[in-house]
Amino acid sequence: MTRPLLELRDVHTHIGAYHILQGVDLAVPPAAVTMLLGRNGAGKTTTLRTIMGLWRASQGRVSFDGAPVGGPGTRASPPDMARMGLAYVPENMGIFADLSVKENMVLAARRARNASQLDTARLEWIFGFFPALKKFWLHPAGKLSGGQKQMLAVARAIIEPRRLLLVDEPSKGLAPAIVQNMIDAFIELKQASTTILLVEQNFNFARLVGDHVAVMDNGRVVHAGSMAQLAADDELQTRLLGLSLGSHQ
Ligand SMILES: Nc1ncnc2c1ncn2[C@@H]1O[C@H](COP(=O)(O)OP(=O)(O)OP(=O)(O)O)[C@@H](O)[C@H]1O
Ligand SMILES: [Mg+2]
Repeated sequence: MTRPLLELRDVHTHIGAYHILQGVDLAVPPAAVTMLLGRNGAGKTTTLRTIMGLWRASQGRVSFDGAPVGGPGTRASPPDMARMGLAYVPENMGIFADLSVKENMVLAARRARNASQLDTARLEWIFGFFPALKKFWLHPAGKLSGGQKQMLAVARAIIEPRRLLLVDEPSKGLAPAIVQNMIDAFIELKQASTTILLVEQNFNFARLVGDHVAVMDNGRVVHAGSMAQLAADDELQTRLLGLSLGSHQ
């Protein structure tokens, strides 16, 4: 088996007095999409934040490309993680409301100091998925609709090739046609060898995009395997997610 690009071993995270992650084991294989599923409050967002170095792992180890990046005694900062090629799209999107769509994109592209230095072919590729961003290129990001902000947040993460994308609930609030575009974007990124760890509540999205799946509950990964296996198993879906969404296509 190929070595995982990202690996968490027995990761514990405390937030204040609360023991939130209670021994997370997770392997994210390269050039594939791993879905992180689980009920509200299971610990998915905390896991992504711990990987990025936004929370400190109090026990265990986070490794990226074989090197320790998190855990007692080793904590790479969020800028360190970005330099290593990770991009994170948080649940609350993390865009700059007072800046234009264009300025948000320039800031996200570490290789560009102004718009003329953006990779135009890549930008057009992104506009193909999210045409609203082209239309509102010079508008303040804060004036975009919720779904358009979501598109901008994902566009910022993919404006440059990254080694690992961490994306928290990208389809939230999006119209079905744009959800389909987002699915197509992730599939194309995967074909270009990007590794993706995706939190998603929409199981239909998850099964179309995901190769692997990890299901969390109470601060731990309680199931890991192939997405195809979970998608085909109603009983397993009911047991792990509390809801069977049907294995039929
Ligand atoms: N800043 C915080 N302070 C205190 N508790 C927190 C904080 N952030 C998260 N938690 C708690 O940690 C647990 C896991 O939260 P987390 O946001 O990781 O869940 P999640 O799986 O992303 O849920 P959702 O699907 O609702 O986004 C929850 O019980 C939550 O209340
Ligand atoms: Mg969350």
